[in-house]
Amino acid sequence: MIKTRFTEAFGIEHPIVQGGMQWVGRAELVAAVANAGALGFITALTQPTPEDLAKEIARCRELTDKPFGVNLTILPTINPPPYDEYRQVIVESGIKIVETAGSNPAPHLPMFHEHGVKVLHKCTSVRHAVKAQELGVDGISIDGFECAGHPGEDDIPGLVLIPAAAAKITVPMIASGGFADARGLVAALALGADGINMGSRFMCTVESPIHQKVKEAIVAGSELDTELIFRPLRNTGRVASNSVSREVVEILDKGGKFEDVAHLVSGKRGAKVYETGDLEAGIWWIGTAMGLINDIPTVGELVSRMVSEAEEIINGRLAGALR
Ligand SMILES: Cc1cc2nc3c(=O)[nH]c(=O)nc-3n(C[C@H](O)[C@H](O)[C@H](O)COP(=O)(O)O)c2cc1C
Repeated sequence: MIKTRFTEAFGIEHPIVQGGMQWVGRAELVAAVANAGALGFITALTQPTPEDLAKEIARCRELTDKPFGVNLTILPTINPPPYDEYRQVIVESGIKIVETAGSNPAPHLPMFHEHGVKVLHKCTSVRHAVKAQELGVDGISIDGFECAGHPGEDDIPGLVLIPAAAAKITVPMIASGGFADARGLVAALALGADGINMGSRFMCTVESPIHQKVKEAIVAGSELDTELIFRPLRNTGRVASNSVSREVVEILDKGGKFEDVAHLVSGKRGAKVYETGDLEAGIWWIGTAMGLINDIPTVGELVSRMVSEAEEIINGRLAGALR
């Protein structure tokens, strides 16, 4: 068993988290993560309406009696989803842990805290982590440049970002971005984190609700097979390298505007990749951890393997190096 401030504060067995994943963070995956003793998050905005989120939470409860959370991704969009209604559903459904990401969590904190909901805020820079801590979040998930999704604009990988954040963060903090195995877990603990968050690795498990062909592509892919889209728009996203993402990069590098790529990056097209296994149907999110993912285990196998191998590394290789 690896006990940390994070496992204690958030009431979970293992210091491993499955972060929110658009189209992927659904009940079957989140329940499998919970049943494995780790912490999974249902992705609120994957559900088209707040009522659908309530149903998804109920569906997850049928699959596990262990704690799980909900991810609320707050993105600056022209037509924002009804965040307040999603938040209301989270609270009314009795969820006690929320992962916030994408933007300042301040507007959501009072209501969550009023209802005893712990907030784990995910961010990509030390300054945003410090700010969130000052706002009163209960935990920080510090997400390095390696990650799938939005790595921010600072390009600081975990090896520097995690200890730099650990020096300033006093609430429980987990490390995110590029973690896929026991070595990463031990490294994160050594760098000052209290656990890890993984997206890409959990996406490539038996219970992950995406097409088998996408999982096989992740196993076949390497750490070189991602693209950074939206760099010129300062809204960088790390996605799989395919004809669509490469076209997006090319258009924006030539001075194109968001309108010029909107048809390529639509969420609907991305969802089609996961549904049909057509890897060129749209953009799909994956991180550089792809280079460390070589199989499609069940979530239970993955978590127990990571924990037991981490214990072996600590008790064996690392302890054995002491003279
Ligand atoms: C398919 C996919 C979709 C994601 N969607 C979201 C999202 O909607 N909200 C969010 O906060 N993070 C999202 N992420 C980021 C993950 O929660 C996590 O922070 C990230 O994957 C960590 O990096 P890793 O992939 O190297 O483990 C997504 C990641 C993936 C792989």
